[in-house]
Amino acid sequence: MIGNLGAGKTTLVKGIVEGLGVASEDEVSSPTFTLIHEYGDPPRIYHIDLYRLDTAREVESLGLEDLFQTGNLILVEWGERFPSLMPVPRTEIAITLNPDETRTIEWRRVIE
Ligand SMILES: Nc1ncnc2c1ncn2[C@@H]1O[C@H](COP(=O)(O)OP(=O)(O)OP(=O)(O)O)[C@@H](O)[C@H]1O
Ligand SMILES: [Mg+2]
Repeated sequence: MIGNLGAGKTTLVKGIVEGLGVASEDEVSSPTFTLIHEYGDPPRIYHIDLYRLDTAREVESLGLEDLFQTGNLILVEWGERFPSLMPVPRTEIAITLNPDETRTIEWRRVIE
C-alpha cells in the first residue's frame, strides 16, 4: 500500500482483515513500532510497516522473503522505500487523500 502519512493504509488493512472474516477491525492497529502484526490462528494475514526502518539490512532481518513464500496475504506499508526487497508479482495499492477529504484508490499488478 502506497500513500502519504495519514492516507489511510492502516484503515484499509482494518477493512480487509474484517472483510475476510479473519479478525475484527478493532483488533487491527498500526505496526509502526512492532513492525509486524499477524491476524488469524493460524496467521492468515500479516500487516507490516517499514516506516521506522532505515536500511535494507534491517528489512532483510525481518525475514520477509520467507513470509512472502507462505501464500498468506501480506499487507505492507512503506514497502516502496525498499523496492528491491518487494516481491514480484505483487499488487500495489495507491491511496491519495484529496483536498475534499475523499480518497482515490488505484491499484496495479506489478509482474516484472
Ligand atoms: N477512507 C477513510 N475515510 C475516512 N477516514 C479515513 C479513511 N482512511 C483513513 N481515515 C482516517 O485517517 C487517519 C489516518 O489513517 P491511517 O492511520 O489509516 O493512515 P496511514 O496511511 O496508515 O498512515 P501512516 O503512514 O501514518 O501509517 C485515521 O484517523 C483514519 O481514521
Ligand atoms: Mg499506517
